[in-house]
Amino acid sequence: MKNITVIGAGAMGNGIAHVFAMNGYPVALADVSREALDKGLATIEKNLARMVAKEKISQEGQDATLKRISTFTDTAQAVREAALVVEAATENIELKLKLFKEIDQHAPKNAILATNTSSISITKIAAATQRPELVIGMHFMNPAPVMKLIEVIRGYATSDETTQAVMALSRKLGKVPVEANDYPGFISNRILMPMINEAIYALFESVAGVEEIDTVMKLGMAHPMGPLQLADFIGLDVCLSILNVLYEGFGNPKYAPCPLLVNMVAAGKRGVKSGEGFYSYGHGTKDLIVADAFK
Ligand code: CAA
Repeated sequence: MKNITVIGAGAMGNGIAHVFAMNGYPVALADVSREALDKGLATIEKNLARMVAKEKISQEGQDATLKRISTFTDTAQAVREAALVVEAATENIELKLKLFKEIDQHAPKNAILATNTSSISITKIAAATQRPELVIGMHFMNPAPVMKLIEVIRGYATSDETTQAVMALSRKLGKVPVEANDYPGFISNRILMPMINEAIYALFESVAGVEEIDTVMKLGMAHPMGPLQLADFIGLDVCLSILNVLYEGFGNPKYAPCPLLVNMVAAGKRGVKSGEGFYSYGHGTKDLIVADAFK
């Protein structure tokens, strides 16, 4: 596989483009506006510069990586020469179905179409195309340049050849791929989201405060971030939507989102990206400061 197209230059899309380009693949990065593309490229440049400063890559490596990325505002044009398309657009099923129809029309007939979805059914997305055997989940973890895992999800019709090609490619990127079947939340979010939800319930029921809950999981279980900080990092709206997928997909009340999470999202508290969640952000330091609502 040579030419890679990444659809979406947001947090996940730019990280995925970064990973492919740094490993020598020409990347066509597509988004709806020039502004979104410029923002994505600026983030890639900043993250590469951090790697240069830490002597993980050379200055020449940074320059060559950036040169491998071309940008497009037209999806049809971006996928025309792709061997693999990785879609990392907004987590919205209607949008993804529409995108996959369009990608399917314009990408080469033998191109593999992957989605970075964290919770939408691969099987449903594949059914929007004429090549369901070539459609697969390629779920990178955030931040994609740092996290080793790629969850590779087989839809109902995904072929063995497609799965093996994506597993091999993931290894070439220096990642560790893990195969999963297409059921709500796959492996990662089926386990992660109930943990985060339980942490929110512990706060909601006044078992302990924000810092105490996160400290127990950080120091007691060696998690790099506590579950409440991680929820802010992922986005509380994203956590809520994944919990709803689990709740509806299994019809089991154990996945019902905590009412506190529902209220916070309704109030616009979406975590890091909105400036406040369980912690407050935008104070210009890296310090973790508990949001006023939980002090
Ligand atoms: N690009 C490149 N490098 C980055 C980076 C980025 N975006 N962000 C951080 N880094 C690098 C740093 O340069 C640093 O490198 P060194 O170890 O060589 O120093 C390293 O990552 C650690 O960064 P920091 O020192 O700035 O900060 P940290 O030690 O707090 O680590 C973290 C940051 C890697 C994000 C760490 O806190 C962590 O692992 N958190 C948990 C992340 C996690 O669980 N991600 C999965 C979320 S779930 C998901 O993505 C799936 C879903 O469907 C919801």
